Amino acid sequence: MIEPCTFVTFGATGNLSRNKLLPALYHLEQAGRLPEKMAVVGIGRRDWDDEAWRREVEQDLASRARGGLDPEVFQRFRQRLRFFRGDLSDADMYRQLHDHLEQDPALPDNIAFYMAIKPADFAAVSNHLAEVGLNQETNGWRRLVIEKPFGYDLESAEILNERLHRHYGEHQLYRIDHYLGKGTIQNVLVFRFANLMLEPLWNRNYIDHIQIIHSESRGIESRAGYYDTAGALRDMIQSHLLQMLTLVAMEPPANLDAESLRDEKVKVLRSIRPIPQSAVHAHAFRGQYARGVVNGEKVNGYLDEPGVAENSTTETFCALRLFIDNWRWRNVPFYLRTGKRLARDNSLISIRFKHPPQQLFRETPIDRIEPNWLLMNIQPNECLRMELQVKEPGLELRAQTQRLDASTCRVGQYDLDAYEALLLDVIDGDSSLFLRYDEVSWAWKVVDPILKVWSMERDYIHTYPAGTWGPQEANRLFVRDDQNWRNTLDDED
Ligand SMILES: NC(=O)c1ccc[n+]([C@@H]2O[C@H](COP(=O)([O-])OP(=O)(O)OC[C@H]3O[C@@H](n4cnc5c(N)ncnc54)[C@H](OP(=O)(O)O)[C@@H]3O)[C@@H](O)[C@H]2O)c1
Repeated sequence: MIEPCTFVTFGATGNLSRNKLLPALYHLEQAGRLPEKMAVVGIGRRDWDDEAWRREVEQDLASRARGGLDPEVFQRFRQRLRFFRGDLSDADMYRQLHDHLEQDPALPDNIAFYMAIKPADFAAVSNHLAEVGLNQETNGWRRLVIEKPFGYDLESAEILNERLHRHYGEHQLYRIDHYLGKGTIQNVLVFRFANLMLEPLWNRNYIDHIQIIHSESRGIESRAGYYDTAGALRDMIQSHLLQMLTLVAMEPPANLDAESLRDEKVKVLRSIRPIPQSAVHAHAFRGQYARGVVNGEKVNGYLDEPGVAENSTTETFCALRLFIDNWRWRNVPFYLRTGKRLARDNSLISIRFKHPPQQLFRETPIDRIEPNWLLMNIQPNECLRMELQVKEPGLELRAQTQRLDASTCRVGQYDLDAYEALLLDVIDGDSSLFLRYDEVSWAWKVVDPILKVWSMERDYIHTYPAGTWGPQEANRLFVRDDQNWRNTLDDED
């Protein structure tokens, strides 16, 4: 039974709140998963009252609710919504917020604060909350949900963490990486640890290499202010892709509680072979999109996007080769790749197995045996696929690739958004899908040398036409000629 709570959102009028958080809460309402007395308080500086905010939320949900807005569900949901007017930089606002939260009997004592605001404000807002005692758990629990990015590099992450820990216990901090709320990501754990069949093969003896890609066909849209100072390595690899890597590579945890899971993930991150600054070019590749054609439409290059500095060398594409120096994975390359304005939207984990040790079919028409692949697609469709070699029908001994799709394959259909699962975990107090600080810190340690080198090399960056799969030169990361990028489920090897 989930306890009632007050869910307070800083930045209630922003993009994340409108597009993700409120739709997720509405869908949880629809699924009957919100505790009966739970209230949702939006904080913003607009001149709105509860009714005005409810109207805004209704309008937003009209286009975002799955299957259209259900008036009955919304009627229940709207009663939970309260708007609290205030400016984040106004210290007095927090005193008033404290009194409001304490005094309104419709607001339950347990409180989750969601930071849907600029990362630069995370520390100051959490500090202000503590100054008025809203970090104290004397009367119900207090939880703080921190959005990504957590820091800008290792040093700033350390500083932010230290500032949060001045007033909050680790158990109160929920560092969110919404990728971990995706069904297929959780399926990596189930697939690996609920099936005996794969475990004996899940190691350096049988696996040739592993690729993790997250590609977006979108450009940076109106986010130049953030993106031009961040880049693909910070934006995607330090967080989402390294998290995926940990789940693919980790050892079975002692049990599924948050600490055991996170202990194993940290062990993976700690075992990643450090990339010395002198070897950054051998292990990492960056690129930036130039003009091109995406989905049949001509689109701008990165440098033409509004708000981007005219000589920016910020990477919109990044590929890395990493090695995990442990018994299971030593010398198995892990290739991580992400980019904007690539050919398609896709997120995929591809595991390529080695060739069989004996070339039994050398003297037959089967001139080349394709290796086995195991593919886990995360989005837009959730799918598990295995590629096996079978004999082609007919008199000749020829082989063809057969694809076995798990029945979870669903194209373009979401039953659950990642935020739904994660918000439910926040109010239920389950932090297993949230990041412990040592995970964040070790992930920064992996990328920090690359960030340092790239920040000094500001005179040149490779480009790629928008709508392609990135610069050809990224192929140089492969350790052998027979390795190729796997972009989508349906690519040929
Ligand atoms: N958008 C996403 O899909 C996404 C995905 C992953 C992570 N994130 C993270 O989520 C956070 C929010 O991102 P976002 O895209 O929602 O940003 P956003 O659209 O710029 O929203 C920022 C919010 O902060 C409010 N705000 C700014 N200054 C304020 C002040 N002085 N007083 C009161 N409110 C103030 C804004 O209010 P006004 O409307 O009054 O300006 C707005 O509601 C960021 O940390 C981002 O990195 C976002």
